Order: sequence, then structure tokens, then C-alpha cells
Amino acid sequence: MHGSAKGRIVAAVVAILVGSPLNLSGQAGPADETDPPLIVSYRQALMRANQQRLGALRALTSGEIDLPEHRRLHSAALADNGRMMMTRAAAGIHDVFPAGSTHATSRASDEIWQRSGDFTERVRDFALAASAVNEAAQGGSTEQIREAIAEVGRTCNGCHQEFRLPAPDAGS
Ligand code: HEC
Repeated sequence: MHGSAKGRIVAAVVAILVGSPLNLSGQAGPADETDPPLIVSYRQALMRANQQRLGALRALTSGEIDLPEHRRLHSAALADNGRMMMTRAAAGIHDVFPAGSTHATSRASDEIWQRSGDFTERVRDFALAASAVNEAAQGGSTEQIREAIAEVGRTCNGCHQEFRLPAPDAGS
């Protein structure tokens, strides 16, 4: 119940954004007013969690904040996100990107399903980099953690460049 209410809000917001003449994705055509499948909303939430963990870790390794336990816990959570995306990826099964899970509000590219093996590689890059952050955070120096975080950022971007459609408003 809660989920679908949220889905309706997301759909309404996106209908406003996507329905504008600035829709450059060229994919969806007229705004899709149905709720996105919950798996789409869920994976977007998982992605935002990735972003928040990274943002937290950047702040926590800036040198201004001395909260090592926070650093460890955010790092462990980021590694968990990698594991969640990796679950069955080696077998070519992408639990949060099931075949056909598209919607006007989704920026998942069809390439995910057309080049599933390459997508798995991107997931693996991310999962390994996130796990390296976690290892560094359990005992490494701030500099080591920072480098590991930068590497994670590259794996996020690497996948986005290949497998995420451009933003409809030409933003991020
Ligand atoms: C293996 C590929 C892959 C990796 C790795 C990946 N992403 Fe994504 N990300 C995507 C795809 C595809 C989408 C679009 C999903 C959709 O809209 O259905 C996305 C969407 C997002 C979004 C938008 C979510 C929303 O609210 O719609 C954010 C933010 C994001 N990713 C951040 C990150 C960060 C930060 C990392 C690394 C810590 C990361 N992603 C790693 C593929 C990836």
C-alpha cells in the first residue's frame, strides 16, 4: 500500500518532468501514466542508497570528521549493496534488472539485456571496488579508503555511461 502510494507520487512527478518538451530520451514517447513496476522503484532506491553511502564516505574521509565507526558501517553497507547487485549476476541473472523491467520513469537501457555479460562485468567491477572500500575501512589509512572510494566512483560512472539512458532533462 505504502509502496504503490509512493509509486504514484513518483509517477506523478516523473509525468511532469518527462511530459515536458525537454524529454530527450526519445524512448518513452508520451508520458506513461501507469505506476512503474515496483522492481524499478526498488532498484532506483538501491541506487540512491549507493549514492548516499558514497557521499557519506567522502565526507567521512575528508579529514575534517573523525568518526571511524561511521566510516566502517557505511563501507560495510556499500559492500552489501555490491553483494545485492551481484547475487546471481555471474549466472547472467540480474535480480534488480529482470528482463523487460522498463518504464517511462526508468533510465535502464535495453543494452542491459542485449549485452547481459558486459553488464555482469560492470556489476562485478562495482562489487569488487565496494568490497575493497570495506576492507580498507576496517584498518586502512584514510588515504587508502579515499583511493578505494574514488575507484568505486569510477565503476558507478562506467556502468552509467554504458547502461543508463541520458537524463530526460539533460541533467546528471
Ligand atoms: C552495473 C551498473 C550500475 C552500477 C555499478 C551502478 N549503477 Fe547506478 N544506475 C544504473 C542504471 C541502469 C540506472 C537506471 C535505473 C532505472 O532508472 O531503472 C542507475 C540509476 C542510478 C541513480 C538514479 C536513481 C533514481 O533515483 O532514479 C543513481 C543516483 C545512481 N544510479 C547512483 C549510482 C552510484 C553512486 C553507484 C556506485 C556506487 C552506481 N549507481 C552504480 C546502473 C548502475
